[in-house]
Amino acid sequence: MKKPRKALIPAAGLGTRFLPITQSIPKEMLPLVDRPILLYIIEEAIDAGLEDIIIIQGRNKEEIINFFDSNYELEDRLEKSGKLQELKILQKIRNKANIISIRQQEAKGLGHAVHMGKPVIGDEAFCVLLGDELMIGSPNPTKELVDHYEQHQKPVVSLMEVPEDQVHLYGIAEFQERLDDLTVKIERMVEKPEPGEVRSNLALPGRYLFENDIFELIENTKPGRNGEVQLTDAMQALCKKTDLYGRSIQCTRHDTGNKLGYLKACVYVALEHPEVGDEFRAFLKNLEV
Ligand code: UTP
Repeated sequence: MKKPRKALIPAAGLGTRFLPITQSIPKEMLPLVDRPILLYIIEEAIDAGLEDIIIIQGRNKEEIINFFDSNYELEDRLEKSGKLQELKILQKIRNKANIISIRQQEAKGLGHAVHMGKPVIGDEAFCVLLGDELMIGSPNPTKELVDHYEQHQKPVVSLMEVPEDQVHLYGIAEFQERLDDLTVKIERMVEKPEPGEVRSNLALPGRYLFENDIFELIENTKPGRNGEVQLTDAMQALCKKTDLYGRSIQCTRHDTGNKLGYLKACVYVALEHPEVGDEFRAFLKNLEV
């Protein structure tokens, strides 16, 4: 039985919804209190049993690479000044997983970003976790996809219900058959549908598990809007070719790629933070604006 071991995290988008900060800082490296969003996503992958983490990165790549690199000067200073707790935090980040980085030279779309992983993925099944979609709480959605794959050996993607007036903002899945409360067999995928174009409000929140045949389907996908190769279009071809399952997430999801989503995620994480959570909660309660 095949077991996925690799996670691919696309983090090379231009982040135009988050300008001007994304001019110099990748949105995936924005902090939630004291940890970048990307670290939460890597932890989700590791918690799902994935060992190799392939990060697709674009401009400003140093930010991401440096974060997982050792910083001798800083660590030496921490050790000499007895700040061992801080030192441990830095070492733990470094030892989390095998981090592999691949450069996407031009932001040619999510499908193109996923395809960049082809030489490293080989013939294995693998997970894709979007670098700006934060999942908090349980069950871990990537772990759910891995568990589903181990049972069925078929590709599977996370789904979530969205209000009708937001359907046009997402990749949407129409299903053929509901298998249980959380699982469907997908019939059709449409990227950002026009009003009335789909009879579904099940959107893709950015967690996928594919076999390596997705690469050939991406190769056969023509660029769409803005010359971008859409992953959703390759998935439409995939569900014609094989069973493609969809599994509803049960945790909380934040789209940190837009300003409001990011702010909500900051508050959510800050309230749970062991060091500042209680004081921050009290601050919010007394806030008069
Ligand atoms: P988004 O569509 O949310 O990212 O892609 P974007 O293009 O940066 O967004 P805006 O609209 O300009 O603000 C989802 C994920 O896929 C990555 C992004 O970094 C993000 O984590 N991505 C997207 C790539 O890695 N490469 C691409 O060419 C496009």
